[in-house]
Amino acid sequence: MKAKFGDIYQFWLGSTRIIVVSGLEDVQHIFAHRHVYDQGDIFAEKFGLVNPNGIIALKGAKYKRHASIVGPLFRGNKINIHLDTAIDCTDKLLDRWRTYNNDPTQVHLNMIEQCQQLLLAIFGYIAFDYDLQTLNDENHSSENELCRALHTFHNTAVDLMQLPTVIGRIYLLLNQKYRRSQAIINQYLQRMIDQELVENPTTRSERKRTCLIASLVTSLQQDEMLEATKSEEDRKGLSRTEVMNEMCSFLAAGYSTTSTALAWFIHLMSKYPLVQSKLKTELAEYHHQRLSIEQLNSLGYLDCVLREVLRFAPPVIGTLRTLQVDDQLPSSDFLLNKGDHVLISLYNIARDVRYWSGPIDPDQFYPERFQNEDNTIRNKAAWIVFGGGHRQ
Ligand code: HEM
Repeated sequence: MKAKFGDIYQFWLGSTRIIVVSGLEDVQHIFAHRHVYDQGDIFAEKFGLVNPNGIIALKGAKYKRHASIVGPLFRGNKINIHLDTAIDCTDKLLDRWRTYNNDPTQVHLNMIEQCQQLLLAIFGYIAFDYDLQTLNDENHSSENELCRALHTFHNTAVDLMQLPTVIGRIYLLLNQKYRRSQAIINQYLQRMIDQELVENPTTRSERKRTCLIASLVTSLQQDEMLEATKSEEDRKGLSRTEVMNEMCSFLAAGYSTTSTALAWFIHLMSKYPLVQSKLKTELAEYHHQRLSIEQLNSLGYLDCVLREVLRFAPPVIGTLRTLQVDDQLPSSDFLLNKGDHVLISLYNIARDVRYWSGPIDPDQFYPERFQNEDNTIRNKAAWIVFGGGHRQ
């Protein structure tokens, strides 16, 4: 599309006009001006139908209240301390694959599903201190009810993006499969909260610095009815429904992105054996050792490969913002009006020769592009696979 229409073009999502922005300078301007470009109203409207109190659907004072509770837990150092958990879960999956390998009846393995199960297991432990049992052998393949329910939840949210909101509401009411899935997800969320509630409050207040569920449960409002009478600016903490909605959005947003990235990594390693062998050489130093976070951070080529996987196949291809006032984009000079919706095309930027000027075309998979010092600064700015600005 970009090759044909340039840096700015529009399309219609149902009855909504979406303006696609693909020039890096314009995109940086959008991310830098949060009061002009706030979270996309479409997210609030559509995701609001399935998960009204999840952070992605929130704006203004309510967003601030939620972000102040969940935001601090997503800093790198809070995740890094769970490296051992990630390694243990991955070992469990590898053991399963070794067993399959010796089993002549197992001729086909759905790698996307396997990656989803791994990431859900890791996510369950890290975020919720809970065993989601997605790696238990009796639960393999499509038998896992939580995987299936999340899959339906995700697909329904995608369907809703294309429907007018009123039709979307009716669609949800009539969609039995979605309603069953939502009920299954809610059962899991309730169990996780209940498990956390039986924990001793003293240990919880220590764990809340590193564990999402401990932090969310600590934030539960003592008197929901009283908080509901206050203005949004004065409200503190989260209601039980809000906690459940946040857990749901983290589960959905967290496992689908990371498992997609892992599935692409596995696919690309099979397509590029030279890259795979360079990676193995780098890792050979730590053969049969449990990696520490410092050792992991010292693996320069692995870092390049992961960056390149996320550039080449970004799990999220774009993000939306809605104009709060009229504005003009600095590079394209395009005039935007209050209420316009812009889609920042992370995918187009990741594949644009203007920003990926190394020897190899950006349509090629080439991890070494991140090793080339001359290109580092230019490429760094264009590597925005996690979005930008205040919603990153
Ligand atoms: C490879 C992994 C991931 C990628 C590429 C990715 C990418 C993105 C992108 C592009 C956005 C939109 C940001 C913006 O609008 O500027 C986003 C938002 C979000 N992501 Fe991720 N993400 C990843 C992993 C995760 C994980 C593990 C979680 C788990 C909790 C998560 C939770 C969220 C949430 C809650 C939002 C909405 C934030 C808001 O609207 O304020 N993501 N992600």
